[in-house]
Amino acid sequence: MKAAPPAATSAQTNLDYDKRWTLDYPELGTEPVSIEPLISPEYFEREREMVFRRSWLNVGREEQLPQAGDYFVKDIAVCKASIILVRGKEGKIRGFHNVCSHRANKLVWDEAGSCTAFRCKFHGWSYTTAGRLAGVPDEEMFFDFDKSKHGLVEVATQVWQGFIFINLDPSPKETLHEYLGEMGERLSAYPFKDLSTCYAYRGEFRANWKVGVSAFNEGYHLGFVHTQTGGNSLRNKENLFGRPVWIKLYERHHTYSFFGNPDFQMTPVEALAARHGPMMSQGAIGYPPGGNPSGHPYWALDANVLFPNFFIDVFQGSYFTYNFWPLSVDRTFYEMRSYYAPPKNAGERFTQEFSRVWLRELLLEDLQMIEQSQAGIASGARQHLTLQDGEICVRHHMKVVDDHVTRA
Ligand code: FES
Ligand SMILES: [Fe+2]
Repeated sequence: MKAAPPAATSAQTNLDYDKRWTLDYPELGTEPVSIEPLISPEYFEREREMVFRRSWLNVGREEQLPQAGDYFVKDIAVCKASIILVRGKEGKIRGFHNVCSHRANKLVWDEAGSCTAFRCKFHGWSYTTAGRLAGVPDEEMFFDFDKSKHGLVEVATQVWQGFIFINLDPSPKETLHEYLGEMGERLSAYPFKDLSTCYAYRGEFRANWKVGVSAFNEGYHLGFVHTQTGGNSLRNKENLFGRPVWIKLYERHHTYSFFGNPDFQMTPVEALAARHGPMMSQGAIGYPPGGNPSGHPYWALDANVLFPNFFIDVFQGSYFTYNFWPLSVDRTFYEMRSYYAPPKNAGERFTQEFSRVWLRELLLEDLQMIEQSQAGIASGARQHLTLQDGEICVRHHMKVVDDHVTRA
């Protein structure tokens, strides 16, 4: 049984699905979009410098570092960087370049662990978890040597709602709070800390990272790509093409609210799962704090897209994230994580297992489109992409990247 949908509360409620979002953002235009940024090696080099080395980047969550001394390593190929994230003795999370101060050897080689100090494999220099150089074998043979000047190189690291972000700019131009802006304030209401059970997938796809971002930035494809999974829970005969129920473009980020089909008939096993916990395909079962900004009665989820490469997709009782990390102009490393409240019984655990596999299927359906799109783009057959109104977030993301790349 479905709960009655909540009453519409906002004047912005888009019940006929006929709104043209582009009219709210005339500065974005409606022209076809060049494919050059998706294939150009020179453009990719500019993205390294102007986008990824200057933006706040999500690298993980606080739950990955529960105890003092816990660490994980995040390799960020697009910045040619490897970063150690570590919780210090006093509880603070810091980030350091994973580079020994002696002859620049990679300091930590494993993906994650726990320690009281980091010790370099090459000549045994050791560092505290606060990055201070603590031990140098045969120290007296160095010249005018001041250990205090040879600590690890720290990277700006800040935490918001349990999400750990770094900024590789040695002097970031803004705080994480300023970067998140209005979207961060709204999303702060969402109960992230209660949803601490995480399931993760990661892999590579053969496409430009922006082709990946674009595939999750619109609902136009739902009725074609996802007919075997979630597509029909996000559209119905009143909203045949899964038009958005709300869109908000911020300076760099944006939010896209997906329609939830109130009449969606789950398969028997989906319905069984939904009895014990949240399933994205339930739609229209109420909404969480920080979600459904327009108060739409038929809301399924919000894709909150943080520039440049991080998605936080929230729905009732659960959320999932995507990170898209460029490896080269036409290869991308992706991470998907889904989050739930710690299961209290076998039924809840079943729902989570089912939901994570269901979301993985959805992801794989998108990945096929992403790789085939890149192949077509790289063929040079066409020079432009043609976008409709509901693909405004695709246009916005590519525009914001371009504004960064072409900045003097
Ligand atoms: S490079 Fe690390 S101790 Fe020599
Ligand atoms: Fe999709």
